[in-house]
Amino acid sequence: MSKIITNVMPKGGVGKTTVLLNIGYELSLLKKKVLFIDTDGQLNLTSNIQYKDDQVIALKNIFDLFTEEDPKLDYYIYETSYKNIDIIQGSSDLYFLRNERNFMAEDKDFIPKFFDMLHKSDYDYVLIDTNPTISELNLALIQNTDLNLIIIDGDINAVDTLQTLLGQYIKSYPIWAKGEITQESVIYSFATRNKILFNNIAKQESVIEYTRNTIIDMFHESMILDTVIHRSVVAKYAKMDREPISQYDKKHTMSKEFRKLAKEVI
Ligand SMILES: Nc1ncnc2c1ncn2[C@@H]1O[C@H](COP(=O)(O)OP(=O)(O)OP(=O)(O)O)[C@@H](O)[C@H]1O
Ligand SMILES: [Mg+2]
Repeated sequence: MSKIITNVMPKGGVGKTTVLLNIGYELSLLKKKVLFIDTDGQLNLTSNIQYKDDQVIALKNIFDLFTEEDPKLDYYIYETSYKNIDIIQGSSDLYFLRNERNFMAEDKDFIPKFFDMLHKSDYDYVLIDTNPTISELNLALIQNTDLNLIIIDGDINAVDTLQTLLGQYIKSYPIWAKGEITQESVIYSFATRNKILFNNIAKQESVIEYTRNTIIDMFHESMILDTVIHRSVVAKYAKMDREPISQYDKKHTMSKEFRKLAKEVI
């Protein structure tokens, strides 16, 4: 059964796409079969990877899949130039998706059915890139995912954003939850599906200590991943060449950090 990993975190630019792409690449090097899905209308994941046969724009993308009544996964999947990695590309039409699908009320079974299809697929890991919002889609993804990576950068506002996300998750729960559910059990369900990852952290940055302590006060230390991805300009250089970091420079510290992270989330 495939494991589904998402990266819902409504603060923009924290490194969601960078982290997802590099975890996926490291998992593929560990001989795991990986499917990327780009649900961000900015299309960063779609455009930051290389495709087999120079084929760049797919005929079918995630918008088509999300608006189909009974989608068949294979129809939307494209091969990348990396061994063991395929993708369902994004679409800027996703910005208008709310008109098509209401993931929280009348269409609330769509994401569980979609995840059921992903779990039964041939992939070991399905990695879903998300946009920086608290949308119905993103709340539905957190609700159903096996693991959501909440990426926190050195900016102190990231903790405020995490608090807002938790608040909206709690608020949205009665809409789709079945039966009587207490606020404690909702927080518990959030804490078991979500892990915190520190990314883009300057060496010896003191804000981490404050952030760590706030998160420990909110939840528990076990939610924080051991691996920290430090700040390095190699992230930008690799992206300019549309390469995962460890393909760009296998011996770089950041490549080692992503390798460690992939093993930690496996
Ligand atoms: N560890 C890091 N060190 C240095 N630069 C980084 C690091 N992680 C990400 N970046 C850079 O930060 C910028 C934002 O990263 P990225 O696009 O992955 O963020 P995002 O959270 O996906 O953004 P958005 O919210 O718009 O989807 C990029 O230019 C990326 O190269
Ligand atoms: Mg992104």
